[in-house]
Amino acid sequence: MACRVGLLLRCRPRLPGTGQSRLSSTGAAAQSAAGREEADSKVSTQKKTFPEVQAERLEQAQRTVLINCPAKIDERKFLKYLSHHGKINSHYFYESYGTYAVVEFSEKDSITSLQDVTRMPGIEEECAVPFKSRVFTLTLKNLSTQAADQAPVHCHKQATILVSELIQKLCSADSVSNQLYTLMDEYQLTEENIKLRFLVCSLIQDIACAYFPESTVKPFGSSVNTFGKLGCDLDMFLDLDEIGQNSTRAKTGAFYMEYQMKRVPSERTASQRILSVIGDCIDNLGPGCVGVQKILNARCPLVRFSHQPTGFQCDLTTNNRVALRSSELLYIYGSLDSRVRALVFSVRCWARVHGITSNIPGHWITNFSLTMMTLFFLQKRTPPIIPTLDQLKALADSEDKHIIQGNDCTFASNLNKIKPTENTETLDVLLGDFFEYFGNFAFNKNSINIRKGKVQNKPEPSPLYIQNPFEQTLNVSKNVNQSQLDRFVALARECAWILQQEDKGHSSLSNSQPWGLAALLLPSVTSNSVKSKRRKRGPTSERIKNLLDSLKINNENSLVNNGGKRTFSNQAR
Ligand code: GTP
Ligand code: MG
Repeated sequence: MACRVGLLLRCRPRLPGTGQSRLSSTGAAAQSAAGREEADSKVSTQKKTFPEVQAERLEQAQRTVLINCPAKIDERKFLKYLSHHGKINSHYFYESYGTYAVVEFSEKDSITSLQDVTRMPGIEEECAVPFKSRVFTLTLKNLSTQAADQAPVHCHKQATILVSELIQKLCSADSVSNQLYTLMDEYQLTEENIKLRFLVCSLIQDIACAYFPESTVKPFGSSVNTFGKLGCDLDMFLDLDEIGQNSTRAKTGAFYMEYQMKRVPSERTASQRILSVIGDCIDNLGPGCVGVQKILNARCPLVRFSHQPTGFQCDLTTNNRVALRSSELLYIYGSLDSRVRALVFSVRCWARVHGITSNIPGHWITNFSLTMMTLFFLQKRTPPIIPTLDQLKALADSEDKHIIQGNDCTFASNLNKIKPTENTETLDVLLGDFFEYFGNFAFNKNSINIRKGKVQNKPEPSPLYIQNPFEQTLNVSKNVNQSQLDRFVALARECAWILQQEDKGHSSLSNSQPWGLAALLLPSVTSNSVKSKRRKRGPTSERIKNLLDSLKINNENSLVNNGGKRTFSNQAR
């Protein structure tokens, strides 16, 4: 199938980066799917590449401090107090084990000025490690008079709503498309939450810089790839590649000078040693960094810890540049067309509610694999909604060329080069077809490949084979076993069936009766209720009959029986 997205001119991005207005959750939820398209086209003039957005946010984070403060505080006096150290660009409050303020100064010097007048904690029984960070505690000098008549400060939300509340909201949407957008608006990272993620990276960078002054710590994964959900983990990359890049080699004279350095047998060993040291520093020096685990024998060595002041679960890696590049690729796909993110968010949420994905490592399908599957599905539409990776590579210029550890990671970074798709399918159609497509996919013989946008024969017998787009000999879903894949397929078939059964008459149902996406987030129906629905609604097409036959086989074992009733569930929390 010839793909038109290859001949590309302009794009219609909805960038989640800085400098772009983000719709408030209520405003966005109320916006129609058509309005969404219009909003997409309005932001088309504001396009920044992924590295530009990252650099801007990291710089912003370096001018920012985190202050634990009383919940009842005079905000005006608080800002006046801090502004003695310099102009404040922005601030907001949130709650996580107490109330915190995030304050962004206009100049970095303001932080030094604030640190100069900040005293060491007066601890009577314990001792403090005197590491001066950018995390502070602010107390009131006179608690009884200063807090008495204050209302608590307004805190920004840092977590998603309960699934039961989400389902109710979805029921009040006027189409399945708008249900998907409502879910995305409720679940996506807020501007404040993204800033907080960059701030934590910058705080960890301060620690790493004690040993490696030129190092940077960058977020990757769902924190920055446009598919992050409130509460997702924070994947961080300790970038040491800048070290020595700026040193100018003397051109004259009879000598060369170079550093003496510790030699180790492999890059992996170097990563393990560096992470081991930085992990110890985070454990011993980092305020609020708790539960530090050094997982150095993993395929990609990492340090895992919780950052208490923000509530983020953090994974720090190094020598993981391919993952950073794959975050950029996902960012591009997520920015091209608003349907991409809406569909990915809904599929991820659906998978989480039904236990298809899990927080615990194991044989489950991961969010990353699910995202690959959704992108692949969108590449297979007619006309395709997003280009293949090879088409993005064809649009790359010399600056986009990236070969990382022998892997070709080249693709166009500039969104302006990518022509918008002519596909006008609604999310109503796409959601149903997604489930039908994967409910009937020949996983036993075929693999998924977003580089080519084509099904290919599986090179090895893993139940689910999704080719890693950059490290092309690897399968990103190698961990998935047959029974987890079977559960996914059975549920996909069931959901395809449910959506096919729902006709346009849903508006005649009461709002409390879940329909569309809301119905898919409930525990599964039993095969009995499926049969009775079928009788009531008359004959079905051959395709639906096939789906039903497969359900009969698979349902008993894999789907949740709830006495034939579909009820609210908070399972995904
Ligand atoms: P969340 O579940 O929201 O955290 O999604 P995520 O995309 O952040 O996934 P995760 O934290 O598991 O991994 C972070 C990043 O590492 C991903 O976005 C990918 O870039 C990369 N990654 C994760 N799993 C794989 C894998 O199996 N293979 C490869 N090559 N990269 C992976
Ligand atoms: Mg992650």
